[in-house]
Amino acid sequence: MIALLLTLLLVATANAAGDPARGAEVFRQNCSDCHSREPGETRTGPTLFSVVGRPAGSIVEYPYSVAMRHSGLVWTPDHLMLYLRAPRKYLPGVKMSFPGLRDKKDREDVVAFLGTLHTAPRAGGNGAAPQSSKSAAIRGSQ
Ligand code: HEC
Repeated sequence: MIALLLTLLLVATANAAGDPARGAEVFRQNCSDCHSREPGETRTGPTLFSVVGRPAGSIVEYPYSVAMRHSGLVWTPDHLMLYLRAPRKYLPGVKMSFPGLRDKKDREDVVAFLGTLHTAPRAGGNGAAPQSSKSAAIRGSQ
């Protein structure tokens, strides 16, 4: 019974249907000072273009902390939900000085928004090498 409940809970989290439009606003207010949504653009933090599905610490030109580079994580929506709640508790030693998004709805929405950042706004997007074939596939299917 507990196993069943846990399974349902996991499925619910995985399918958490955030609102990407509201997420864009959450992003603008909380993340965009430090993160670009454009491919290849570094601010204090690495670009979050095509972050969903990419291995943590994998933008070659970005000087990640050792903790982030060696975390072994892949940024699935589930990991993003947990990370964004309290970044430095989830991954001790990372240098993202952001306390976290307390509100679960904010996290769901911003993760839904991040999931939309796969199509380069201009042709020949650079800096997204690990995802480029996947982006092309996604573009092709839309
Ligand atoms: C004060 C600046 C700052 C803010 C605000 C901030 N971040 Fe970050 N973020 C960083 C830095 C710096 C890193 C690199 C961490 C490291 O290397 O340890 C990072 C890393 C990340 C990563 C890992 C990226 C990768 O390539 O592995 C994700 C995902 C992320 N941030 C998401 C967010 C989201 C979503 C928000 C808003 C809710 C946010 N961040 C707000 C500075 C910030």
